[in-house]
Amino acid sequence: MRKKIVAGNWKCNTNLQEGIELAGAVNNLVANEAANDVVVVLGVPFIHLTKVVETVDTNRIGVSAQNCAAEPKGAFTGEVSAEMVKSTGAQYVILGHSERREYYGETSEVLNKKLALALENGLTPIYCCGEPLEVREAEAQNEFVKKQLEETIFNLPVDEFKKLVIAYEPIWAIGTGKTASSEQAQEIHAYIRSIIAEKFGDEVAEETSILYGGSCKPSNAKELFANKDVDGGLIGGASLKAEDFLGIIKGF
Ligand code: 13P
Repeated sequence: MRKKIVAGNWKCNTNLQEGIELAGAVNNLVANEAANDVVVVLGVPFIHLTKVVETVDTNRIGVSAQNCAAEPKGAFTGEVSAEMVKSTGAQYVILGHSERREYYGETSEVLNKKLALALENGLTPIYCCGEPLEVREAEAQNEFVKKQLEETIFNLPVDEFKKLVIAYEPIWAIGTGKTASSEQAQEIHAYIRSIIAEKFGDEVAEETSILYGGSCKPSNAKELFANKDVDGGLIGGASLKAEDFLGIIKGF
C-alpha cells in the first residue's frame, strides 16, 4: 500500500527556539488528533534537526532536512553532508526543491550526486519536480516534468527508486496563494505515475507516493487529497502554524 504523507517544509523560517516550540505543538496535535495512517514529516533547517528529533516522537513524526551537500565530506565550507543529516536522527531529505534549483543553481547533475549520497546514508529523499508558469501556459508541463525525472531519479536502480517520495510542486503555485486545481493536480500526478510505470513497471508506480505542493491549506487539502493519484502534500507556509498543518493532515 502506498503511503499517505503530509510533509512540512519550513524553508528558512523560525529561529531555533521558535522551531522547537512549533515542533512540540505539531507533535502534541498529531499525537491526539491525526489519523494513524498518515505519515507526518517536518522539513526543518539544518541547525534545528537535532533538537526537533529530540522534541517529537520520531516513531510518529519523521524529521527531514531541506537539502544536503553534493559531496560526502571534505573542504566544502558551509556545507552539510548527508551523513551529518543522518547522524542527527533525521530520516528524510528534501532534494530538488524549485527554490534550490532557481536560487542556488542546482542542476540535474548536482541532484544526482545528492540523491546518491542521501540513499547511501539511508535517508529517504523527497524529490521535488514541477514547472514554471510559462511552461504551464504553453501546456508543456508534462514534457518539462518528464525531463526532470529522466535526468535524475529515473536513472536510479529500481530498488533505490522505490525508496523515494516524489513531490510535484508547480512553481507558479508556490507561496502565491494560487493552488493548482484539483483536476490539474490529478492530471499531472496520473501522468507522473504513468511514466514511472513505463520506466519501472506498474507495481512500482502503484507503490510510489506522489505529493502535491503549492499553496496547500486546510481549506483545499481535502479536495486535493481526494484524488486517486495525490498521496499527500509538501506544505510550505501552512506548515508554520501547527493548527493549519494539522488541518491539512486531517484533509485525508
Ligand atoms: P507553499 O505551501 O508556501 O506554497 O510552499 C510550497 C512548497 O514550496 C513546499 O515545498
